[in-house]
Amino acid sequence: MVPRIDIINGPNLNLLGQREPEIYGHETLAGIEATCRALAERIGLELRFFQSNHEGALVDRIQAARGHAAGIVINPAAYTHTSVAILDALSSFDGPVIELHLSNVHRREAFRHHSYVSSRADAVIAGCGAQGYELALWRMARLLGRA
Ligand code: DQA
Repeated sequence: MVPRIDIINGPNLNLLGQREPEIYGHETLAGIEATCRALAERIGLELRFFQSNHEGALVDRIQAARGHAAGIVINPAAYTHTSVAILDALSSFDGPVIELHLSNVHRREAFRHHSYVSSRADAVIAGCGAQGYELALWRMARLLGRA
């Protein structure tokens, strides 16, 4: 059976490519999704790719992964630094969780240095730009015994 991975993206990531490209790069979220889909096919993972600007919608998506996804890759964006609800939802999920940030949040403003999500994450990737999504999939494949 091919393991299913949910890649979940938080607020403002729909604007990737236009939004502060000097921080987040020029690649769009659609471009990242296409790269992830090609890689997932190569390494034998099924993908669901999701973005929302709404905290509750992200919680709903994480809950929907329970019993359906083998692992979650999440860029919670600004909710990283504020959301106990997203942490709690992730804590109700049994499989591996990888937290991902395009930018190196630790080199930025102090309010970005704390993540509510990290205490539940099996791995954290930051500062690798769009390539971080590919690294997350490789790591997920390893965690699931696929690579
Ligand atoms: C981000 C970093 C967050 O601090 C920020 O609010 C984002 C994106 C990143 O991918 O670097 O929206 O998660």
